Amino acid sequence: MGALSGLKQRFCTGSVLQVIELKNIEKVYNQGTSTEVRALKNISLSIEQGEIFGVIGLSGAGKSTLIRHINMLERPTSGQVIVDGQDLTAMSESALRSARSRIGMIFQSFNLLSSATVADNIAFPLKLEGKMSDEAIKVRVTELLDLVGLSDKARMYPAQLSGGQKQRVGIARALANNPKVLLCDEATSALDPKTTMSILKLLTDLRDKLNLTIVIITHQMEVIKECCDRVAVIDGGVISEMGPTLKVFTDPQQDLTRRLVSAAVRRDLPELLRHTEIVPEYTEGSKAVIELLFLGPKADAPVIVEVAMLCKVMISILGGSIDHIKKEPFGLMVVEVGGSREEIEHALVELKARVHKVEVLGYDQRKQLSDFQWVGTVLTHGRPVMGGHFTDSVHGRCFISNLYRPWCSSGRAAAYHLPWLFLREP
Ligand SMILES: Nc1ncnc2c1ncn2[C@@H]1O[C@H](COP(=O)(O)OP(=O)(O)OP(=O)(O)O)[C@@H](O)[C@H]1O
Ligand SMILES: [Mg+2]
Repeated sequence: MGALSGLKQRFCTGSVLQVIELKNIEKVYNQGTSTEVRALKNISLSIEQGEIFGVIGLSGAGKSTLIRHINMLERPTSGQVIVDGQDLTAMSESALRSARSRIGMIFQSFNLLSSATVADNIAFPLKLEGKMSDEAIKVRVTELLDLVGLSDKARMYPAQLSGGQKQRVGIARALANNPKVLLCDEATSALDPKTTMSILKLLTDLRDKLNLTIVIITHQMEVIKECCDRVAVIDGGVISEMGPTLKVFTDPQQDLTRRLVSAAVRRDLPELLRHTEIVPEYTEGSKAVIELLFLGPKADAPVIVEVAMLCKVMISILGGSIDHIKKEPFGLMVVEVGGSREEIEHALVELKARVHKVEVLGYDQRKQLSDFQWVGTVLTHGRPVMGGHFTDSVHGRCFISNLYRPWCSSGRAAAYHLPWLFLREP
């Protein structure tokens, strides 16, 4: 294992250092004109040292504007930007230039110099700063190439590299001045899923080795799911939801968050219920459709059997999956609980005591074959029989089981000598 991660270090020392603090940031473009845009509205947030922080939201929500405030590529209309204890909003341009060198940034389009070699691209910010000798720059570039796994590519040109390799050069260049903060604006959006994962692994390793604080803006929910400790959702220039990734992804509070994370955490109704009407109220004989969220140590307890036995209810598992957010497992399961109103309520209490989150999605009024009394079978003998006398003899409603209905309605039951089941509600 490498050095302690930023998170572990924080827990060991007990101190939490806020590396990035945005206080009441307002950003208005074209203020006072007919094209005025309030891109950020009273944004306040703090990001801890060693944290990987994700920002998600729809296109035009203000994500890039937000991240560009952290290195003051954009100046806020009002509010304060504090990075590593320094108030960037109060700095002169020259002080700001120096402070900015401690904040690296990478982009979707890599922004490499096409006429310079990999080594020269990485050396560029060091030469620009003008504080190191050529020899020292050479040593530093060799270190950085090693850090991003490109030691053998020093003399190549960007056009000779794959997308993932280009982004590694971008990362090495962004880290040249030993920044405390790395900002990533859609840094993996141009990469295939496998390369994206290798870049995320690199970013996580760099956070662990260098105690970097990383801010990631992305449309790829898999990116947040894989490596972000916390995530903020921006909606129309406002932070609409923020919290630990596991919490936000498994228990989203806002509709927008629910829609955004649905790409990474699927919670569609199981196929079995897709064409069934789920109603909000219990009626006699209906079954509660319940979503269960399992997290951590409770994930492997024999919950279903325990509750079924204790509450004397029927529990059928309709669907489920186990997934991971930042290596932490969570399970989502949809079950149907059948019983009286009191039995179902008792089962809900017992489930809530054992499972991280229990949500009643509604009630399934669909009848099952077992809900009906079997009253007879009619063999068609090759003739379509709508058994008039048979139905008359049965008191109550008669059903042809769903199982056979397609055959019956197409007349094929008759042709194939299939039995028609006559059932009625007890
Ligand atoms: N320089 C500018 N002048 C005027 N309006 C701007 C400027 N930059 C951004 N905006 C506006 O601010 C809002 C937020 O833009 P921003 O680029 O931050 O969105 P985003 O969330 O990054 O979107 P995307 O996901 O498409 O990159 C948009 O309405 C945009 O048109
Ligand atoms: Mg953007």
